[in-house]
Amino acid sequence: MKVLDLRYEFHNELDQIYGKDEVDSFFCITMEHYLGLNRFKLAMAPDQLIKTEDTKVITDVLIQLKKHRPIQYILGQAEFFGLKFMVDEHVLIPRQETEELVALVIAHGKTLKSDRKRLNILDIGTGSGCIAISLAKNIPYANVYALDVSKDALVVAKENAKRNNAAVEFINANILDEDSWNLNYANSDLDILVSNPPYVRHLEKASMKPNVLENEPGLALFVENDDPLLFYRKITDFATQKLKKGGQLFFEINQYLGAETKQLLHKENFSQITLRKDLNGNDRMLTAEKI
Ligand SMILES: C[S@@+](CC[C@H](N)C(=O)[O-])C[C@H]1O[C@@H](n2cnc3c(N)ncnc32)[C@H](O)[C@@H]1O
Repeated sequence: MKVLDLRYEFHNELDQIYGKDEVDSFFCITMEHYLGLNRFKLAMAPDQLIKTEDTKVITDVLIQLKKHRPIQYILGQAEFFGLKFMVDEHVLIPRQETEELVALVIAHGKTLKSDRKRLNILDIGTGSGCIAISLAKNIPYANVYALDVSKDALVVAKENAKRNNAAVEFINANILDEDSWNLNYANSDLDILVSNPPYVRHLEKASMKPNVLENEPGLALFVENDDPLLFYRKITDFATQKLKKGGQLFFEINQYLGAETKQLLHKENFSQITLRKDLNGNDRMLTAEKI
């Protein structure tokens, strides 16, 4: 089959579901991933013949996309902060908004650089390890710890740390269980605590797309409608114990609950509580300093 015909097949089968631009992007990502043909090469050689076995692999991608499986799970890979991460159904696909959170943490980390001391950073709910690994790569003078309740997610995160040559210490723990708070990590001496915890209420499912709902792990996404800030409350309590004075807390938050989440921090020992918008103009990040 020619490149041209395969591209036509993608559009013919998928445009109605995803729209022309996204399908074009799927096609290019797939061709680059399996055949090393980038956007430019594809445009220059529309008549290039694709071998039968390769056509089969690429058609299989099309079939899975038609069933709403995210392209990142199909290819087993996602990009985040300029790094490649292995992903499977045990971990959330890293999001662009989270890159903004990481950029904030790195900018803060740079202000703390000192010749004498290493920083201690903890990422709560690490999933694929995207936050912790990006921080370890970009703040080389930090000890980075990352925890998750999911053992399956930690298998993926550890593999990602290996592939990206990043030093991160992973911990299997449930942040909602206070008995696990005294594990032996950076005890009471954290400079930075960062978290993108589960924050989507079940009631928000109605507005979510099937590729997310049917594929990404519920454990990573959802909280009860009547207690949507559970993780923020627990992590804030944890932070009051474990962050050092002047230490910084970085949260990714539910865009619809910015004011309520901010209010939570006002009740605790924090100052400089700042709600920040993402590139789409939604309340997405909350930062605060431990008093
Ligand atoms: C929204 S995902 C974030 C994943 C990753 N940090 C990211 O930004 O792409 C939340 C993560 O929290 C983990 N998690 C859920 N409940 C938890 C708990 N009780 N204790 C620790 N981690 C938990 C999930 O397994 C999931 O990996």
